[in-house]
Amino acid sequence: MGNGRNPGTTRSGTSRTRVRTRTVNLRDLPVRHDERTLLRAWQIGDLPTIIEAAGDPYIPLITSIPPDCSSAEGAAWLHRQWNQAAEGRGLPLAIVDRTVGEAVGMVTLNSIDWTHRRAAVGYWLLPRHRGCGLATSAVRLVVDLARDLDLLRVEALVEVDNQESQAVCRATGFTEEGTLRSYLRIGERHRDMVMFAKVLTGV
Ligand SMILES: CC(C)(COP(=O)(O)OP(=O)(O)OC[C@H]1O[C@@H](n2cnc3c(N)ncnc32)[C@H](O)[C@@H]1OP(=O)(O)O)[C@@H](O)C(=O)NCCC(=O)NCCS
Repeated sequence: MGNGRNPGTTRSGTSRTRVRTRTVNLRDLPVRHDERTLLRAWQIGDLPTIIEAAGDPYIPLITSIPPDCSSAEGAAWLHRQWNQAAEGRGLPLAIVDRTVGEAVGMVTLNSIDWTHRRAAVGYWLLPRHRGCGLATSAVRLVVDLARDLDLLRVEALVEVDNQESQAVCRATGFTEEGTLRSYLRIGERHRDMVMFAKVLTGV
């Protein structure tokens, strides 16, 4: 990643607008960790984590993991994550609980817009690993990564009644910007979503 800043950035003429002209390969970024939590690229050995996540009632509704995921579908999902990272469209990372040495969830920077320098963060944990602070640590680490990638704004869209996820946003310094009514179809219903965001300048 070199110094980790400005991958593929050019300035066009006298324009002050930064325009990304090259594909940014995010596939081989170094791992990030704190005492308990480690973020790394997904590996084929993480397939059991994906299959377990598919059994959660909510995770398949907010991700592209199919419910009742087969091994073949799980492997296809992993390949899609690797492609997304290689093409610089997103940064999907496994959350590893260092106390067990296994992938127990996911944190991702989605919809990366290199021109406007923003991305959306998404995350989930296997139910048996919730409530230990792993999501909060993972979001802190991925925001640090976003800063190193020279992104300016990270957004999180959270359902109005998802208190656990809103607590993660607040604990990691995101600001609530407002509610987007009937914004996302999740399952069979269109949901109101709270827009949280963190602007990374001067922080
Ligand atoms: C959202 C999710 C990742 C949070 O995981 P977690 O293990 O609870 O996260 P953490 O342990 O880091 O704790 C997050 C905070 O939620 C709080 N919390 C947990 N359950 C809560 C509840 N029912 N109501 C309010 N706050 C709650 C915790 O106290 C903690 O706050 P604190 O840091 O101020 O103490 C997890 O619930 C999950 O995977 N949910 C399903 C997928 C999902 O909703 N993803 C987010 C989509 S926007």
